[in-house]
Amino acid sequence: MIAILATLIGLYPLFYFFQHNFGILGNKNSALLASAVWSSAFYMHITAGGLALLIGWVQFNERIRISSPVMHRQLGKLYLLFALFSSVSAAYLAIHANGGLIAATGFFCLALVWFISTFMGYTSILKGRVTQHQKFMIFSYSACFAAVTLRLWLPLLVVIYGDFIKAYVLVAWLCWVPNMFVAYLLTRDMNKSEMQPYS
Ligand code: HEM
Repeated sequence: MIAILATLIGLYPLFYFFQHNFGILGNKNSALLASAVWSSAFYMHITAGGLALLIGWVQFNERIRISSPVMHRQLGKLYLLFALFSSVSAAYLAIHANGGLIAATGFFCLALVWFISTFMGYTSILKGRVTQHQKFMIFSYSACFAAVTLRLWLPLLVVIYGDFIKAYVLVAWLCWVPNMFVAYLLTRDMNKSEMQPYS
């Protein structure tokens, strides 16, 4: 289920390359659309974010991880790169997000959580702390998966409130806070004593 949803939403940014004025671009003012900085951040964010979503779930497949540790390392480095590029650009996009300060803060915090958990996941494995690496990567992909949960919550909230902006403000938080709680439940019983050097 996670793989199917991640693949579908991971491919969704492609629409922006094939359709003029697609999606959110229709709701942005001309000054922002003319800004080279905003446009570069936007395309960097959706491309790197889509790729991170597409490859991230593969890393949790135990069979692949055990049978091909080299592939795990290489995909992991790609995920790291995409997640860091996409989260940094997302933090900038957040400042100009629709929905004002509350939505902007929600997206900004998500970008921060995604960046920090990914960075910590990487530095943990460099130090040979396997369980800590697994924990941080579960948090990292749960943050990345907010791209999916946002698109599940949003239509529901629009129906409930009958108002897109109200729904958007709420979804800026609802798309990731419950994901963090799920990540917490998944990781809380991981035993600290399992931490072993990585060979
Ligand atoms: C997890 C951290 C993420 C954060 C903080 C974040 C934040 C944002 C922000 C602030 C915007 C602009 C919204 C606006 O201007 O109103 C945006 C748009 C967008 N993001 Fe992300 N995003 C994240 C992850 C992802 C991922 C993994 C994808 C991969 C599919 C993605 C795909 C998009 C797309 C396609 C848009 C354009 C809006 C739309 O068509 O729905 N984002 N994101």
